[in-house]
Amino acid sequence: MKTVAIYNRKGGVGKTVSCVNIAGCLDKIMGKKVLIVDTDAQANATSYLMLHDIDRVRYSLMDLFGDPEITPDKIIYKARIPDKKNEKLVESNIYLVPAVRELDKISASNMYILRDFLAKIEDRFDYCLIDCPPSVTDMTINALCAANYLMIPALAGRDSVTGYGIVVSEIDAMKQNGFNVNLKILGVFLNRVDKRRALEEYYRNFWQGNGKKSAHFAHSVRDTSDIVNAQEFGMPIHYYKKSAVAEDYVDLARELNFKILSYENKVKKGGN
Ligand SMILES: Nc1ncnc2c1ncn2[C@@H]1O[C@H](COP(=O)(O)OP(=O)(O)O)[C@@H](O)[C@H]1O
Ligand SMILES: [Mg+2]
Repeated sequence: MKTVAIYNRKGGVGKTVSCVNIAGCLDKIMGKKVLIVDTDAQANATSYLMLHDIDRVRYSLMDLFGDPEITPDKIIYKARIPDKKNEKLVESNIYLVPAVRELDKISASNMYILRDFLAKIEDRFDYCLIDCPPSVTDMTINALCAANYLMIPALAGRDSVTGYGIVVSEIDAMKQNGFNVNLKILGVFLNRVDKRRALEEYYRNFWQGNGKKSAHFAHSVRDTSDIVNAQEFGMPIHYYKKSAVAEDYVDLARELNFKILSYENKVKKGGN
């Protein structure tokens, strides 16, 4: 299982939407089995994927922190997605550990509760995507300690540069304190891109420029109401309809897979 945290200190940049849509693509297009862990007390990934099914949810990530030995199946829910006619719910290959509001009250002395939990179930999934809160809490540190990889969604503006810098220095500090020293930052990807906006063009070029490429995903996600509409129906975009933004996520998910495999090969050969 490849565990990827989707993190940025800024809210509203597309962490949740990207988490759900990358999962949708890994499932529907690439045939993978994906676990999403919602670590954000706003529980947006949970309400996205459990929109029509919230009554089923009895346990959440909160229960893991209450009892780290909890049976995994108690807190893992298979997401059921509405069919195209919105008449019935269809089983997907996306699974979810739901969040609840109380998560932001968690104070944990152990930063490896989530990592140790994921270790128990790693044979069951190809990917685990962790939707992170936009703040640094014990929950966030647990999320960052559980991940092998980190991707940073950002809007195509100055904040993409400052946001990246903030995340990199946070991770450096974490590693200096001995936490998850092997965490690999895969880089920034731009979300809500509108090719007509000149300023965005500047930032797209900036990230493609010398020395920045390695900190950046070549593929970005366009700004479109399709994303908002799919979310409104509780459907990942690949379940909702054929669209250009669905293709953006296919490109991004393939690039994610490629970056991870290249990195793993490099590590196997003794590089870093
Ligand atoms: N590519 C996009 N096109 C249009 N709207 C988007 C796009 N990505 C995100 N949004 C909208 O922006 C808002 C914030 O996205 P969200 O994923 O919740 O951000 P975060 O998790 O970083 O706070 C949501 O209302 C979402 O529907
Ligand atoms: Mg979110």
